[in-house]
Amino acid sequence: MADENFDVYEGLSWSERARHGVFGVALDCADTIGRKNSFIDSVHKIALARALRGLRRRFDRALDFGCGGARLMPLLASFAKVTYGVDRTPDCIAMAQAANVVPDERLVLWRDGPLPFEDDFFDLFLSAYVLLRTAVLDAAFPELARVTAAGGNGILIEQLDNGRGLTVERYHEVFDRTGFRVIEAHPIRRSSGSRWLRFASSKRCPPSLCRVAARGEIASASRTRFHAGTKGYFDCLFVLERLA
Ligand SMILES: C[S@@+](CC[C@H](N)C(=O)[O-])C[C@H]1O[C@@H](n2cnc3c(N)ncnc32)[C@H](O)[C@@H]1O
Repeated sequence: MADENFDVYEGLSWSERARHGVFGVALDCADTIGRKNSFIDSVHKIALARALRGLRRRFDRALDFGCGGARLMPLLASFAKVTYGVDRTPDCIAMAQAANVVPDERLVLWRDGPLPFEDDFFDLFLSAYVLLRTAVLDAAFPELARVTAAGGNGILIEQLDNGRGLTVERYHEVFDRTGFRVIEAHPIRRSSGSRWLRFASSKRCPPSLCRVAARGEIASASRTRFHAGTKGYFDCLFVLERLA
């Protein structure tokens, strides 16, 4: 864990990824055509909107943890009175500022130590594609727990991947240890072999059908049981409640 460099993921730094823009930093920076990233983005936005609506409440203060270029922040902000973003990469904070979703003073560069918020400050947080290694999960969750009030919610759009140790059991162990209850958890997208992705990426598919394909992907992935023998990674939605 001491050797972990949180500025680099799979050989490329977050700053380098940020040169590829809001989708490039968050999703597949090699997707120059953009169809794959539009598809993944639609999957995430549909899943996030459903999760937020499903909680049937409005929030006072929301945190977009690892906000990148604020890709999901407008949706998050539409369910909260006030929204903040934190990120460890200055180039990502600059991108989020340029997106102009929330005032600059609510976009905070944070790298180590306690998050710069009081205990119980938020009643909602989102983490999307940030906890990509077990070391990040272990480092981030105690702080996310500290700044989330009892009864508050967390929404994760993160990855299940046996190869990286990101197993269902591993997530549950961290949630239990840091005081969260799981309200909902299921895969929303498979990383390979998806017919819906092939359809959305083909030239025959008009961009207007991207969201239809994304809904098909969520429905199909949700029926999949991720287990110890599953190959490749899945995007997974977790909806959490902070316990008292
Ligand atoms: C794949 S991007 C996702 C960005 C955004 N959540 C989205 O879905 O569009 C990962 C982001 O997390 C940030 N990040 C990575 N590790 C982090 C950490 N330990 N604490 C805070 N931010 C982190 C990176 O700088 C990058 O902006």
